[in-house]
Amino acid sequence: MKDLILKLEKEHFLSNSEFKTLIENDETESSAYLSERAVEVREKFYGKDVYLRGLIEFTNYCKNDCYYCGIRGSNSFCERYRLSDQQILDCCKTGYALGFRTFVLQGGEDGYYTDERLVALISEIKSLYPDCALTLSIGEKSYDSYKAYFDAGADRYLLRHETADYIHYGKLHPKELSLQNRMQCLYNLKEIGYQVGCGFMVGSPFQTTDSIIEDLKFIRKLEPHMVGIGPFVPHKDTPFKGFKNGTLELTLKLLSIIRLMIPRVLLPATTALGTIDPLGREKGILAGANVVMPNLSPVETRRKYELYDNKICMGDEAAECIECMKRRMKGIGYNVVVSRGDYKKD
Ligand code: 5AD
Ligand code: FES
Repeated sequence: MKDLILKLEKEHFLSNSEFKTLIENDETESSAYLSERAVEVREKFYGKDVYLRGLIEFTNYCKNDCYYCGIRGSNSFCERYRLSDQQILDCCKTGYALGFRTFVLQGGEDGYYTDERLVALISEIKSLYPDCALTLSIGEKSYDSYKAYFDAGADRYLLRHETADYIHYGKLHPKELSLQNRMQCLYNLKEIGYQVGCGFMVGSPFQTTDSIIEDLKFIRKLEPHMVGIGPFVPHKDTPFKGFKNGTLELTLKLLSIIRLMIPRVLLPATTALGTIDPLGREKGILAGANVVMPNLSPVETRRKYELYDNKICMGDEAAECIECMKRRMKGIGYNVVVSRGDYKKD
């Protein structure tokens, strides 16, 4: 197994059968070696720095109906909300004072936020905080819309591809959604000039090792700047309520593999990882991740942005997450830094 890990580190890729062997191997010793190599590679480029992204969940209205997601359009138990521009700007203000230099606007696909509204909001945030990066995570849009947001000042875009296996994609989504369109969106975003993030859930229903290998191949082809992966966690009001969580072990292993595939990748230890294990995010960093995304949303709306059950960070103070995160990272010998945390070029 050591040979395979060293090969991956050196060549940044493996054959299908080699990936299969590595992914399906469950010796603790090999996993420890894999994370050791990933941590060393991460430290070469990013040292012990951990970048912060302030996550602002600004709407939970969504026109889509993904089977795994708690805010899917047809979940009538989901209490819907939208933040006003002022509420969003207040989140940025609080965040800036706390040391955030990246804001992530994340929401469902909500028609209320027309391109006109979004462009105005993006311009306003960028003029108030010119030293901050602005990331959007608002789903599938046309090339022209993406271009308009970019021209207004948006720097980065997160759009998880969810699975790069066509058959698997069809089992996670209603027929209105297609993997082909999702991938096209990611290529468009890259062409426009965004720093782009794709990603997938680990252990989602019907996922196989082969579908994970397709994910890795797609990641290699797209060459994203960021990759968001976290375990699938069921939500009680979705068709996938009876399914099991993705595991900690497989998520950590894939974080390490992705670090070795793209040494400079910006890789978050996600909230979902912190949800399935109380020390999940720390373990993610120790497997090669270098980003954390504390919640900056108003505390009153946090519980309504429920993508899956038992989501953490529901505290009653806006500053709680960042303080918690600083403490957690310090605890494992890492530092949360005040920085935009851009992708490091050569
Ligand atoms: N479990 C884990 N992650 C989920 N997401 C949506 N629903 C779930 C769930 N039940 C992830 C998707 C989406 C991101 C915003 O959250 O990958 O892209
Ligand atoms: Fe949100 Fe710890 S990071 S409560």
